[in-house]
Amino acid sequence: MNENLEVIILAAGLGTRMKSSKIKILHRAAGRPIIDYVLDLASELSAQPPVMVIGHQREQVQQAVDSRARFAIQEEQLGTGHAVLQAAPHVDAAKRVLILSGDVPLTRRETLQRLLDEHAQSGNALTLLTMKPPDPGMYGRIVRDDSGSVQRIVEANDASEDEKRIDEVNAGIYVFDGAHLFDNLRNLSTNNAQGEYYLTDLLHTLRERGHRVGAVIADDPIEALGVNSRADLAQVDSEIQRRVVEKLMREGVTFRNPSTVVIDSTVTIGADTVIYPFVTIEGTTRIGRDCVIEPGVHLMNVQIADNVHVKTGTVAEDAIIEEEASVGPYAHLRPGSKLGRKVKVGNFVETKKAVFGEGAKASHLSYIGDAEVGAGVNIGAGTITCNYDGVRKNKTILEDGVFIGSDTQLVAPVRVGRGAYVGAGSTITKDVPPGALALSRTPQKTIEGWAERKKKG
Ligand code: UD1
Ligand code: CA
Repeated sequence: MNENLEVIILAAGLGTRMKSSKIKILHRAAGRPIIDYVLDLASELSAQPPVMVIGHQREQVQQAVDSRARFAIQEEQLGTGHAVLQAAPHVDAAKRVLILSGDVPLTRRETLQRLLDEHAQSGNALTLLTMKPPDPGMYGRIVRDDSGSVQRIVEANDASEDEKRIDEVNAGIYVFDGAHLFDNLRNLSTNNAQGEYYLTDLLHTLRERGHRVGAVIADDPIEALGVNSRADLAQVDSEIQRRVVEKLMREGVTFRNPSTVVIDSTVTIGADTVIYPFVTIEGTTRIGRDCVIEPGVHLMNVQIADNVHVKTGTVAEDAIIEEEASVGPYAHLRPGSKLGRKVKVGNFVETKKAVFGEGAKASHLSYIGDAEVGAGVNIGAGTITCNYDGVRKNKTILEDGVFIGSDTQLVAPVRVGRGAYVGAGSTITKDVPPGALALSRTPQKTIEGWAERKKKG
């Protein structure tokens, strides 16, 4: 954490190649807007909040970023040099200035630290991050002189054929001595192919004035990958997820086939939990220790305690599952579902706003909505809470130890008292007192020899 460092994040551009109505830095990768990853880096490196240069969709950006940054407005996007100049009034020019791009989220903190260390040791006025990607594409080319020192940056649009072949390019990340940054920025011109004020032109200016300029080459070019298109976004998304899974494995989580899972960077998973293939875990989901998450499970904002077994094909959202519960296969826990300790919710059971007490069971083919299910309750196959009367949602209360026979409809509002039984095939419209048996089906009629008589005619 550096007291003597200012961070500027350039984020005024819309990102037209995304073909989106939304500014690119608010597109999400692994569950968070990509700007969040850049803000994380800034807050890990500098003691004060970064200055974000914003323009397009500034209200949305300010709302999403909130107090994590200070803001400088760039009304018109006249180039990266012009953008940095807009931040000048907010920055203490006596400090070092690290410039990041809002659309470059994969840079590692260690790499930036290496850049800062090199800057401090070398006495450079500017130290920039470069990389050698497989295809230098539209990146600015790094022109070095015969002695190997960095001389200037030539943008792809302004480069000669020879210069286009240079394999080292500008990652768009820079450390400046503030004193040398802002004064020189005011002298930039727009005499180039794009008619923009290029921040990169400063390199040449500084050298001409006798200052030292240096570069650090990133080990892995993916660290400088900018999100300019949907293809870039997909690459960033999968790289962040790869890092998330790698980190979880270091923390003791087993993945049966790590390349098939989709896990947001916001998710936590405890040690000795086993994650099967084709699992998607999103949002604020937290999973405890020693759990098993079987194939095809989708979890969104679910809190799962230790020793929970979530079986194949289960979908859960905004739900809570306590210790030793078992869910699925093919269960659907909708928002407000809370399963207590050792609860079993089995195949093809749907729950919504339903709280299950310890050890309660609904093992097969049921809909339990707007319900309180007491401890030890046993809900038979095919039980339906009829919670909606066409106007209102009504509540079903099953007190502790209740037994509900299969194929029962519980017409809410209704309460079944402690320890009561409901016979199979019943439609329960009235409260059942504790300890009673309620039965509503018509008595069975049996006609002996009926089939034989029918055949005869
Ligand atoms: C820039 C560099 C190029 C480098 C590349 C790395 C310049 C002139 N070129 O090119 O050498 O290889 O980054 O990714 O700097 N922005 C503003 N206001 C503006 C213009 C840009 O805030 O007026 C922001 C953008 O939103 C973006 C960042 O600055 O976050 C970079 O701008 P972009 O247009 O993507 O620069 P490149 O053309 O990629
Ligand atoms: Ca550009």
